Amino acid sequence: MKSAEIRQKFLDFFASKGHQIVASSSLVPHEDPTLLFTNAGMNQFKDVFLGFDKRPYSRATTSQKCVRAGGKHNDLENVGYTARHHTFFEMLGNFSFGDYFKQDAIRYAWELLTEVFKLPQDRLWVTVYAEDDEAYDIWTQAIGVPAQRVIRIGDNKGARYASDNFWMMGDTGPCGPCTEIFYDHGEHIWGGPPGSPDEDGDRYIEIWNNVFMQFNRDEAGVMHPLPKPSVDTGMGLERISAVLQGVHANYEIDLFRTLITAAARETAGADMDSPSLKVLADHIRACSFLIADGVIPGNEGRGYVLRRIIRRAIRHGYKLGARAAFFHRMVPDLVAEMGGAYPELASGKTRVMEVLKQEEDRFFATIEHGMAILEADLAAMAGAGVTRFNGETAFKLHDTFGFPLDLTADICRERGVTVDSAAFDAAMARQKEQARAAGKFKMAANLEYDGPASSFHGYDALDTAGIVLALYKDGTPVQELHEGDLGVAVIDNTPFYAESGGQVGDRGELKGSGGIFAVEDTQKIQASVFGLHGIVKTGRLAVGQPVAARVDVAARAATARNHSVTHLMHKALREVLGHHVQQKGSQVDPDKTRFDFAHGAPMSAEEIREVEEIVNREILANAATDSRVMALDEAQKSGAMMLFGEKYGDEVRVVAIGSSKELCGGTHVGRTGDIGLFKILSEAGVAAGVRRVEAVTGSNALRYVQEQERRIQGVSALLKSQPDEIAERVVGILDSVRALEKELARLKSRLAAAQGDDLAGQAVDVKGARVLAVTLEGADVTALRETMDKLKDKLKSAVIVLSAVSEGKVTLIAGVTADLTAKVKAGELVNMVAQQVGGKGGGRPDMAQAGGTDPAALPAALVSVRAWVGERL
Ligand code: ALA
Repeated sequence: MKSAEIRQKFLDFFASKGHQIVASSSLVPHEDPTLLFTNAGMNQFKDVFLGFDKRPYSRATTSQKCVRAGGKHNDLENVGYTARHHTFFEMLGNFSFGDYFKQDAIRYAWELLTEVFKLPQDRLWVTVYAEDDEAYDIWTQAIGVPAQRVIRIGDNKGARYASDNFWMMGDTGPCGPCTEIFYDHGEHIWGGPPGSPDEDGDRYIEIWNNVFMQFNRDEAGVMHPLPKPSVDTGMGLERISAVLQGVHANYEIDLFRTLITAAARETAGADMDSPSLKVLADHIRACSFLIADGVIPGNEGRGYVLRRIIRRAIRHGYKLGARAAFFHRMVPDLVAEMGGAYPELASGKTRVMEVLKQEEDRFFATIEHGMAILEADLAAMAGAGVTRFNGETAFKLHDTFGFPLDLTADICRERGVTVDSAAFDAAMARQKEQARAAGKFKMAANLEYDGPASSFHGYDALDTAGIVLALYKDGTPVQELHEGDLGVAVIDNTPFYAESGGQVGDRGELKGSGGIFAVEDTQKIQASVFGLHGIVKTGRLAVGQPVAARVDVAARAATARNHSVTHLMHKALREVLGHHVQQKGSQVDPDKTRFDFAHGAPMSAEEIREVEEIVNREILANAATDSRVMALDEAQKSGAMMLFGEKYGDEVRVVAIGSSKELCGGTHVGRTGDIGLFKILSEAGVAAGVRRVEAVTGSNALRYVQEQERRIQGVSALLKSQPDEIAERVVGILDSVRALEKELARLKSRLAAAQGDDLAGQAVDVKGARVLAVTLEGADVTALRETMDKLKDKLKSAVIVLSAVSEGKVTLIAGVTADLTAKVKAGELVNMVAQQVGGKGGGRPDMAQAGGTDPAALPAALVSVRAWVGERL
């Protein structure tokens, strides 16, 4: 019985019992914010069970579209690797709204399974909630199922009502005891009955859950009886189809076989058992139905879950060899299978295909680069025996190449590697923080303030005592901020450096008698009024209150290292590249320094090394920093570096670090030695004539070096050699690969020539001449020519066409022995054949060569040779 028929039989059966057939509701539960996607048949009837909504019928039956991906029920990562997990599935259900209860629900289920679907009774097992004597008695007495196949399941999940046989929609909402029907797939499959130690095996599979809705659970966990006892059931169409079609895995049912075939066709994936094909067959359903129901791929909420499913599908297609959009071409196959039961899928077909194609094009643009990085890291890890994937790299894959975390995790899992998701989350949080800080900048400039200026003490002091002068919430002045409030504070004496000159704003905290305010960023409101952006962690903060202001020491020190080294690097760049090097922009934060400068060409590796050496020499000299405020003209005379086009006041601050001297308002290290190791990470062009260098210092530099070392060690382990020998080893390997390639070509050619010897026997006689037209597996042009010569010798009076196919291209040569060239010209012959395979060629009367692009047409073209020659002899 096909799935479509099973679906229809179920609905018809319940219609015959007075049930209204109700259409599936959308996968997007518009009226229920507690739910990401529709995940059970009863979702659309939730309010009817609770008594808030009335319908013109008291019995209903549906085939409901469900998605369990993202959110609370998430089966995404298991899909393709188990027999029964899906992102999308169909739930068949019958519902009673205060109409029939346990007795009829059980009778109907039994009748449908044993009389309509004709399942053998002794294959069916049943569970009931331990306290539900009523259901137990109905099964054992009214229905007559032997007691040993009716199993009571109690609270087996650590709390009252926490049981496989007590179904709850969620933490709140309608719920009640349930009875589940299991099918025994037979003793050839491992597993034990429900409730036994081996119940997780695949032998006994739950096919139908009948819930006796009795309570509404509130937020405190209290159970309130429903207005009327009701019934809610759910049977997975895919599971019952597997049972009725006599297969064990859901993926073997008719519907999935069609989709797996479509997936294989679109990816040319030859191995029909590949889990990737199952993943594609599953995911095309979830994606198409979600898009048909109005979800579009995006970066948040439902859209992001959809994007993750699509990208996971693309990745599996990529694994099977797809290199361009293919997934959307499975939609017509799906519509052919399911469009009848779900008209919205059929009518949405074109749009679904367009949305998918667009998302595919987008991801195919980056997947190759991302995969290259991922593969390289995984290979290095395998070499080093590491099984935890770097969370920062996972974040980079996410951020730059659009690899959702679960996609990276999926790939890693195939190699027995887990992803450091805590580090991923940390990197994500850091980026959000930066984005937020960038967004705040605009807001700060708009704040109205007419009080006294802040006085900045942050060059010498990292904590000060101050008074709160003003507070802002949502951009407007307030007298107080309370716990959890985001806001901006201005204080009179501040140690917090406000973002300027490329250096990020300080973070830290304000501590008053009433509470703590975490400062996340500092931005100027006016030239000398600094806004402290942050959140009230505990208590409250009020205008006029005294506070202890403290800068985050570690972040500030890291920022100072990166700022000071920027001056040293600026100077070194001028030394190495020339005095045309001008600062075009810079960004300094605790993680790194980014420095843009005017220069026409990429820096060579040698130049980069030289800059690194000069800067590190300055660091080791450990000179004390000297900063002083002086008149502008005095500063000019001192030779301090000034930025062209920058407006300076009459008084300027001149900072001397090592041998550099610059006008700068930033915060710096006390001695150059504080910087620690300096290392350039990258050098690249950002605009015409502008280069960008990124560099790290201190512990960031150490981490970078360690990471590089780890990679090298990984590669060394793969190559089974010491790190200092790997270059030599790689050269050796490349040499031997080249030698092997040569050897392979020679052997192929030899093999082809050997074939040629046997071919003479295949020549046929046409009016006294021997005619032969054949393909030589694996031959190159040389082999074809050598074989041709041999065959001519052997056959004496002959017309011969030899061909070979390699990488979608056809090579042809034709040869005619001298006695026949008056009548048959090799050039014409080869051209005649070539035209049929999409090419052309020519040559001498006794020997000619051609190429073509259509290997599929080759066999017929070769067959035509005999007749063509016959006409001419
Ligand atoms: N609502 C029940 C389930 O999802 C039938 O299992």
